[in-house]
Amino acid sequence: MKITLNHAASFVPAASLNELAAKTAQCNQLLENGQGAGNDFLGWVTLPSSITPDFLSEVEQTAKQLRERCEVVVVAGIGGSYLGARAVNEALASSFDAFQAKDRKNPYIVYAGNNIGEDYLADMMEFLDDKQFGIINISKSGTTTETALAFRLLKTMLEKKVGKAEAKLRIVAVTDRAKGALRSLATQEGYKTFVIPDNVGGRFSVLTPVGLLAIAVAGFDIRALVKGAQDMERRTAADVPYAENPACQYAAMRNALYQAGKKIEILVNFNPRLHYFSEWWKQLYGESEGKQHKGIFPASVDFTTDLHSMGQWIQDGERSIFETVISIEKANREVRVPHDDENLDGLNFLAGKRVDEVNKMAELGTRLAHIDGGVPNILIEFERVDEYNIGQFIYFFERGCGISGYLLGVNPFDQPGVEAYKKNMFALLDKPGYEKESAAIKARLA
Ligand code: PA5
Repeated sequence: MKITLNHAASFVPAASLNELAAKTAQCNQLLENGQGAGNDFLGWVTLPSSITPDFLSEVEQTAKQLRERCEVVVVAGIGGSYLGARAVNEALASSFDAFQAKDRKNPYIVYAGNNIGEDYLADMMEFLDDKQFGIINISKSGTTTETALAFRLLKTMLEKKVGKAEAKLRIVAVTDRAKGALRSLATQEGYKTFVIPDNVGGRFSVLTPVGLLAIAVAGFDIRALVKGAQDMERRTAADVPYAENPACQYAAMRNALYQAGKKIEILVNFNPRLHYFSEWWKQLYGESEGKQHKGIFPASVDFTTDLHSMGQWIQDGERSIFETVISIEKANREVRVPHDDENLDGLNFLAGKRVDEVNKMAELGTRLAHIDGGVPNILIEFERVDEYNIGQFIYFFERGCGISGYLLGVNPFDQPGVEAYKKNMFALLDKPGYEKESAAIKARLA
């Protein structure tokens, strides 16, 4: 993994970047010594190096049981209890995995509990109707409405279909060790459970069973994923100097750009399989930094697809943006452009080239065009999309986020703003305990 900053550095005053760079060591140290804001949620910092082979074997064993019993596994969760697993699974699976019906080696993974769409849930239940399915229900609080609602529907359906005893073998709960409705329900029903450590918040939890179980069920190598994260944990540690520490460099540069008026960061990929990585990254940075009326707005695009929708704005719209490009050095598959004697489409100048060479030139051409158009560019290069590199990728962005949040002067590990909509929704739905709020909101609407 390599980070290149020169096409961003030219857009910020050197003094501001130097000042922020100097502060990164202290911020990074706070993550390790636990003396910064939100220090009860720093378990993720040393999580990769604390994962044991026995723990991974337990996750793999449970995944095996689900894989043997189920053609479809529903992963129910939202936010940090959902996006990491989906990001990894979609990056590693065939883009057409959902359509590969014959000779499948792995169960289909589908996701529920991340919305309250009635049509979505009805479609899912229809899809599951003739399938042998299981459920991984993930919720740290154990009380999240979206997830609990989906789980109630799916659990009811599964028990009706296969009976309570078999359903018990196909349901796994990932939740707090003691608190929450999901913990008590799982204990009562006798489900296999995994614990989300108290000191790891949702958006930093992909390397706990929150992400690892669903990734193992999908058939991917969680040991290589964890190895990548462990290597990145060492590479971004507080004793690694700024010049060699990509997380410190990323954090300093994005804050320098923010101070220079670049309020929006667009994460760019040129590989459609990384779409959900951007979704995971947006949550990580958005929920960590958007506080006290500050914070870079994290946006994302999939190129070259979105060059034909957002390209105009990025090239020529308001100059309040910068781009962070995720560049993948090697494609995993090989497709070459064939020669055509008639050349009716005029593409013979590409004959013999790999599609990835064309993509790389689109990437370089786009970067240069956007830099020329006044868009600062941070380049982050990974060798390929595989478990090991994804493990690095995850930890790099987590570490960068912690340092960046401290540089910005916020607590990156809470999310008080997420409660406002829940309070209103519960009041509107007359949830017991919300009587005062119900009366107030109804008076407002009268
Ligand atoms: O990052 C976070 O903390 C949130 O996005 C949570 O993961 C999300 O709200 C789901 O919460 P829970 O796991 O308690 O259901």
